[in-house]
Amino acid sequence: MDVRFEPSSGLHGELRAPADKSISHRAALLGAMAAEPTRIENYLHAADTDSTLAAVRALGALVDERDGVVTVRGTGLREARVPPGPIDVGNAGTLLRLLPGWLAAQEGRSFTLDGDESIRRRPVDRVAEPLRFMGAELSAREDRFPPFTITGARLRSISYELPVASAQVKSCILLAALAADGATTVGEPARSRYHTERMLLRAGVNIHRNGRHVTVVNADELVLERVVVPSDPSSAAFAIAAGVLVPGSRLLIRDVGANWTRTGFLRILKRMRGIVFGDLEGESGELLAEEPICDLDVAYGALEGTTVEPEEVPLAIDELPLVALLGCFAEGETVVRGAHELRLKESDRIATVVDGLRGLGAQIEALEDGFVVSGTPRGARGGGLKGGEIDAAGDHRLAMMGAVAGLASREGVLVRGMEAADVSYPGFTGDIRALGG
Ligand code: S3P
Repeated sequence: MDVRFEPSSGLHGELRAPADKSISHRAALLGAMAAEPTRIENYLHAADTDSTLAAVRALGALVDERDGVVTVRGTGLREARVPPGPIDVGNAGTLLRLLPGWLAAQEGRSFTLDGDESIRRRPVDRVAEPLRFMGAELSAREDRFPPFTITGARLRSISYELPVASAQVKSCILLAALAADGATTVGEPARSRYHTERMLLRAGVNIHRNGRHVTVVNADELVLERVVVPSDPSSAAFAIAAGVLVPGSRLLIRDVGANWTRTGFLRILKRMRGIVFGDLEGESGELLAEEPICDLDVAYGALEGTTVEPEEVPLAIDELPLVALLGCFAEGETVVRGAHELRLKESDRIATVVDGLRGLGAQIEALEDGFVVSGTPRGARGGGLKGGEIDAAGDHRLAMMGAVAGLASREGVLVRGMEAADVSYPGFTGDIRALGG
């Protein structure tokens, strides 16, 4: 589906972004691993998280939905059923990396995971290595890519240092650790989102953090009972960027997740002098169980370029395409480094963002691990972005970045393949229209 986004004269109103994708995946998975039923309020219904519900059903969990509440009746930690065929993870990288953590604990039983064309390009070697250390067997295409088969075992606890900060890989190990024979410690080179840790704490697991290390003690069972999923800050980020970039805009974004490991984008935006107010969670040494939420007040304003440091990258990983877009409208240079991970997302997001924005008139150069944008604030004689066409390359975040670029551009943008947005934000185009875009 091709959709044109015209230059807009100001976005106004309130928005409740869709439910958090990361938290929804985790709630369904932990619900399937739990001993008692789990009630999930505000579960995200999008392509990725529907894949997770289908996967846990295939593995023997009972899932039903009434009055907007998804109830998952789990099988317990070690009782997943072997489905008749491969488990289809669709386009969901998070499901691809987290689910093996649970399956690794299914002694002597084998499970095959596969997905769409984009999933078949996404490596699983980073989860294979620690799971093999714990005792599971894994065989993958070219030892790296789906489809792959995992055979569960009686797991050993390990101490493992992640080579790259990845919440998906960290979470995979933490899920496997629940069924291991002692306490497992995972170290990360930089902090990444910690929804899994928070949810495990709520589920009664003995888990604690010491700086960049998290230790989880094996558990007999999980009891999660109830999860309320907040709005996804990564989905809200598109409306936030639109509000900051489209002249005359003023938006109120309600009940968005304010977990500090997810709000790196807002800190970067504030450094660029973007006007966003909200009660964000600060970094706390303590591991807290509840996910915080806040309202955000966003307004149009002039931007300055900034440099995103490698440490900040995992805290804004899914919003870096928007940082590139903001950079096009900012005074001076905007630089992102230490973000090689972007090459392994739903598309090679360094290549697709740089080529896509350049096609709209941006001055942007790719680096091996990031990009450099030379911005020009919009003025009487142009500046900002001209506009044109962009191909979503099957990547939801690229499709939505293209849409926001269109609203803020001088001539509008035609997004080819807008349906990609359904992976995380099915109502995106309607929400933008409702705000006046
Ligand atoms: C996610 C973690 C991130 C992010 C992805 C969701 C998660 O990936 O890009 O969209 O839910 O754990 P990595 O931290 O593995 O890079």
